[in-house]
Amino acid sequence: MQTRVCIIGGGPSGLMLSQLLHLQGIDTVVLERQSREYVLSRIRAGVLEHGFAQLMREARCGERMDREGEIHEGFQIAHDGKMDRVDLHKYSGGSSVVVYGQTELTRDLYEARDLMKGVVIHNADDVQLRDIKSVKPYVTYRAGDEIVRIDCDFIIGADGFHGVSRNSIPKTVLKEYEKVYPFGWLGVLSRTKPVSPELIYAKHERGFALCSLRSQVLSRYYIQVPLSDKVEEWSDEAFWNELKRRLPPDVSEQLITGPSIEKSIAPLRSFVAEPMRYGQLFLAGDAAHIVPPTGARGLNSAASDIYYLYHAMVAHYKNGDSSGLDSYSAKALARVWKAQRFSWWMTTLLHTFPDSIEYDRQLQQTELAYLFSSDAAQRSLAENYVGLPF
Ligand code: FAD
Ligand code: DHB
Repeated sequence: MQTRVCIIGGGPSGLMLSQLLHLQGIDTVVLERQSREYVLSRIRAGVLEHGFAQLMREARCGERMDREGEIHEGFQIAHDGKMDRVDLHKYSGGSSVVVYGQTELTRDLYEARDLMKGVVIHNADDVQLRDIKSVKPYVTYRAGDEIVRIDCDFIIGADGFHGVSRNSIPKTVLKEYEKVYPFGWLGVLSRTKPVSPELIYAKHERGFALCSLRSQVLSRYYIQVPLSDKVEEWSDEAFWNELKRRLPPDVSEQLITGPSIEKSIAPLRSFVAEPMRYGQLFLAGDAAHIVPPTGARGLNSAASDIYYLYHAMVAHYKNGDSSGLDSYSAKALARVWKAQRFSWWMTTLLHTFPDSIEYDRQLQQTELAYLFSSDAAQRSLAENYVGLPF
């Protein structure tokens, strides 16, 4: 098989790039290790920044998002017995975020790929990247007993944190930065009316909690839990009770509970791999960087990688201009690190750290007091949350 761009990973990053390139007449093959049903059963991101939503529209996949997604112009931070609102619209110069589930967005991308007869190969086992330093790289995968070879010009590693692409870069070249947090998020999806029209990030001494949503009939809640906790140990009842304890009393009273339709624990991690290009291989999204979910930056960091890669590939194929490909790693990493900074800041601000000393806790409180007393601080939070320019 032959293609121009072989994309490893059929998550949002891989599908989005494939769709954008196809619209420009650049053909791609997407290799996904899992079945489509499996990919679409994962519950992940819920908040999309303005730039990501714009890319969805550019990829001609934004119709349902624009119809069913909710525009949010602010969110709440519950702390010290009160709720303060962050006015995103006011402090970001009129911008906002879109609440639309990653699952739905991925479904839209798959549908768009199908409509254009894009090649997405599922259940691709044992994907291997070959000759990535040469101008004629290729990828192999196993389909049943058969080994299939795909010759291409470029390989995109969009295969998430546990993929093969990043590990195809020699250890002597790759530099990895990692910070692992001593807790995770236990998330519950329930078919209940959300407790609040806007997201509530709650700082509480028992641990952080987040009230989010997917629609007016579908709620997503999270609580901070120790890494040693197992999801099977958390009954629905125990989850709701703990969530209620961490929310302000007037919010808890309003909380409508119901059976969980998904429950999982996600560990919190910050991670960056450099460089994001090696030979003809380009890393994008979670394959190159991970953030703790607190500032809703993960998928949104992937969006800028895709934006830079898309424009660089188009300039290369249409104008013979490879400068965008050459500067990709440096350009992408500059924005990636800003998302890292913001996610680390928001995580540190709102979570309970098991090894914190009184001094740290005073600083957390002071940071929050400063935030809500300073227009400059709220502007900084808002511009990062809605997404820094690409
Ligand atoms: P992935 O979604 O991980 O996709 C990679 C794909 O590659 C997968 O389908 C995988 O099966 C496939 N793959 C892996 N290995 C191989 C292989 N060897 N061969 C072929 N295919 C392979 N981000 C936000 O911006 N906003 C939020 O509100 C937000 N909330 C989150 C909440 C939670 C609880 C979690 C866990 C994450 C959240 N994120 C959020 C982060 C966001 O979900 C990720 O950043 C996003 O999924 C990254 O997309 P991706 O396509 O780069 O990687
Ligand atoms: C969601 C996840 C986040 O990390 C966040 O900051 C906001 C919302 C969510 O899954 O809905």
